[in-house]
Amino acid sequence: RIEQITGREIIDSRGNPTVEADVLLTDGTVGRGSAPSGASTGRFEALELRDGDSRRYGGKGVSQAVAHIQKDIQNVLKGVSPFDIYHIDQVMIRTDGTTDKSGLGANAMLAVSIACAAAAAQSLQIPLYRFLGGINGNRLPVPMMNILNGGAHAANTVDVQEFMIMPAGAPSFREGLRWCTEVFHALSGILKAKGLATSVGDEGGFAPDLASDEEALQYILDAVEKAGYTPGTDFVLAIDAAASEWKGAKPGEYVLPKNGQAFTSQELTAHWRHLVDAYPIYSIEDGLDEEDWDGWQILTKELGQRVQLVGDDLFVTNTERLAKGISLDCSNAILIKLNQIGTVSETMEAVKLAQQSGYRAIVSHRSGETEDTTIADLAVALNTCQIKSGAPNRSERVAKYNRLLRIEEELGDGAMYPGFQAFGKI
Ligand code: PGA
Ligand code: ZN
Repeated sequence: RIEQITGREIIDSRGNPTVEADVLLTDGTVGRGSAPSGASTGRFEALELRDGDSRRYGGKGVSQAVAHIQKDIQNVLKGVSPFDIYHIDQVMIRTDGTTDKSGLGANAMLAVSIACAAAAAQSLQIPLYRFLGGINGNRLPVPMMNILNGGAHAANTVDVQEFMIMPAGAPSFREGLRWCTEVFHALSGILKAKGLATSVGDEGGFAPDLASDEEALQYILDAVEKAGYTPGTDFVLAIDAAASEWKGAKPGEYVLPKNGQAFTSQELTAHWRHLVDAYPIYSIEDGLDEEDWDGWQILTKELGQRVQLVGDDLFVTNTERLAKGISLDCSNAILIKLNQIGTVSETMEAVKLAQQSGYRAIVSHRSGETEDTTIADLAVALNTCQIKSGAPNRSERVAKYNRLLRIEEELGDGAMYPGFQAFGKI
């Protein structure tokens, strides 16, 4: 049974406060969880409760969310079994009483939801991925490594938020991770030789000033080759445009905030098609805006058979929005972020709906992270076969990859690395 819940303000990878919760069980077990935080957040995400008191942390304090954990959440969860996370989350949802979790704060609810699951797993003396996935979880995810940052994650001239490499040809997660680090260092060398910056953005990718998407893609392909790998066979590429950050005057119109170029949905779709024709790109995330459903239908018709089209801001890990997307034939994959919806069980429901509908699910970090590694376990538990956790540097990114190394080791012969099958039929 849950004996005590403690909340506290901790610091995230951007130096902003976030919520951590400890759940103590009557058997003496303690579980811990914390909430990450986005920069290019979707309009329809659950609410991250911030104090708005400019005298503390520039208004970003989370002391009210922490107080909700200590009082309201503790009151309703004390004495409850930690093993039924669906019940725990429903109790919090009822107590919150809003549709966007603004009552208690999604950050408060998520930290507790994760901490309860962690405590339950601890108490049973099983790994978190076993508690969440039962005997099913055995697939290590192919990492989508964001090695070149732009958009809201970097103070450079690049408008596309993320350029990612995926070691789809690797024989195991461990080897794939090694390959990625080698490409990362090769890219560093290439940028340095060109006199470009090798400082990194929020997700650990390099953040040089570049003239175009194609310049970024070309340096990355050069880095793959310089590290001794073959583009298209060993590595494929992925992009997160985060185009909801490019809203123009009305839906269907886009203006790139940094270089000022304007596009319609059709023109952006043509741009993505051009890039898919020219480079080994297997996945495009948020290629269009979160409210441009018409545009998404066109994009999906044009490119949905050729590449993975991922809805992040479009779906915000919300089953209602995902169901709408499925019925309208928008995209063919969903990005899964725990704090977009605010509880572990609702997150699992979103993955389930996606997988049952033939949509792929990709578990993801946020640009503001903590050392919490729940997403690694979640990806294995639900066999999502793909994970986004940034570049292979910065400890908050690497913590997830290192956790996956340990899981792969623990699974031994039972571990499967899906490689290109990650893009196969669900
Ligand atoms: P965010 O970015 O965490 O800043 O929202 C991640 C993403 O868009 O995938
Ligand atoms: Zn995204």
